[in-house]
Amino acid sequence: MSNQKIQIQGTALKLSDLNDSLVVVSVSATEIGRSSPSKGSSKGKELGFAALDHALQGRLRKFLVENSFSAKPGTTLLFPWHTGSTCRGVLVVGAPKETGADFDSVGSYRNLGSHIFKAARSLRATSVAILARHLNFASDDNLRALIEGTILSGYSFTRFRAASASSLAAKQVPQIKRIQISSSKRISTQTIDEGHITAWATLMARDLINTPPNECAPRFILAAARKVAQRGKLAITVFDRNRLTKMKANLLLAVAKGSDEPPYLVKLVYHPRVRRPRSVISLVGKGVTFDSGGLSIKTAGGMETMKIDMSGAAAVLATMQAIAELQPAVEVRAYMPLTENMINGHATRPGDVVTGMAGKSVEILNTDAEGRLILADALALAVSDGCDEIVDLATLTGACVVALGEEYAGIFASDSALQKRLTDAAALAGERLWPMPLAPEYEALIKSKVADIKNTGGRSGGAITAALFLKEFVGKTPWAHLDIAGPSWAESEKSCISPGGVGFGVRTLVRYVMGR
Ligand code: BES
Ligand code: MN
Ligand code: ZN
Repeated sequence: MSNQKIQIQGTALKLSDLNDSLVVVSVSATEIGRSSPSKGSSKGKELGFAALDHALQGRLRKFLVENSFSAKPGTTLLFPWHTGSTCRGVLVVGAPKETGADFDSVGSYRNLGSHIFKAARSLRATSVAILARHLNFASDDNLRALIEGTILSGYSFTRFRAASASSLAAKQVPQIKRIQISSSKRISTQTIDEGHITAWATLMARDLINTPPNECAPRFILAAARKVAQRGKLAITVFDRNRLTKMKANLLLAVAKGSDEPPYLVKLVYHPRVRRPRSVISLVGKGVTFDSGGLSIKTAGGMETMKIDMSGAAAVLATMQAIAELQPAVEVRAYMPLTENMINGHATRPGDVVTGMAGKSVEILNTDAEGRLILADALALAVSDGCDEIVDLATLTGACVVALGEEYAGIFASDSALQKRLTDAAALAGERLWPMPLAPEYEALIKSKVADIKNTGGRSGGAITAALFLKEFVGKTPWAHLDIAGPSWAESEKSCISPGGVGFGVRTLVRYVMGR
């Protein structure tokens, strides 16, 4: 799939503009039931179902009735019609209910984008014309969601399947080149750009996550970060083993000790052009390129998908790429601690005590609770650099997956306003966040007898004690932690997600920053 921009424009369309396009038209149940339009009834009106059906000599309505299409909001039916020249086919969509800016109504536009992509693919149409009569593209959230849905649905990771039948077929499928939206209301080109840029950034995150761990080692993500920085004119600072040692980032170094791959802490900064940025937002992403568990080794099955343990870093890096293109008026910094969690003769032992950048000593009782260790140093650096708020993303605990399943990420926040802004942004972006408590009652569970704290709190409330551990390192800076262990990986295809790495968090973070 090439990162080719789809040309999207809002125009008033005539029947003669539909040539060779996939036409998307919304319809209500009453419209289907209504008797055939008399000739010329579409004159002066916005092009819609009735005029289209008229041009197709009533065959469209007949097709809907024959297939007992109910026009329930969000349902679709594809009418492939190519004997004439009017269009390649018609994707009929049940008119959405007039609702507001919430997860479901915006989500229906993202799903529609996905249906459009799939219909265009099956008809080999490169151009799409949307007759937007019942569709509300005056809402930026809807417009953005539709565009995201179209782009995200086309993703597959085929780099390691040389000349297989499927990748050959994929190459021959023409991509959508143009989407025309016929709407009486103005549609925003800025929103179209945001949808594009966000979707392509998400696909970049997916590529990083899906890249096998023998290739996607810390240096691989570092190289990707250098590329993002160069293209987007972002400032980049790379802390390698030497610098990490000097700055006492010993918790990150402790996790990296058992690996032959050198660790890095990569910092990217986007400076807005405005003289005084509205605020400074720090994003921190867990970047464990493979999590074997270390000496507290995982089971064979538990390790199978552990290349995804850098999903937080991937999301943060992809967000920086999008931010560099979108140029918001806030300063955004990214911190990505990158390492493998492996085993050799130097590996950290359960029982080792290590003091990191923040000066707190940690008893490492379980080397598989490594995410919180590397995040502790990254958070400490973000705090010492000074910022207005910190958001971290991490595939941190299996316990969070048990608690919330694979659709929801847990959000833990020290600041309720920050929590609300993030949760609202996530809903518009089509990602589920669910509030979890930073329960002070459980703080005792991570007290250590030999050090300031220990890195495990036992099985009960495992996602919470992990978050409480992180809280020890953020000081007074407003902070939110997103445990994305559940939704980072998809076993099967659904709407605009394909099996594999999801790139969860990119859409939420971009929307969050853009709304700031
Ligand atoms: N990377 C894992 C968490 C994880 C599990 C992510 C499943 C995605 C899917 C993390 O480093 C880990 O191993 N956590 C342990 C913590 C425990 C040892 C306290 C866990 O959840 O079992
Ligand atoms: Mn682990
Ligand atoms: Zn991990």
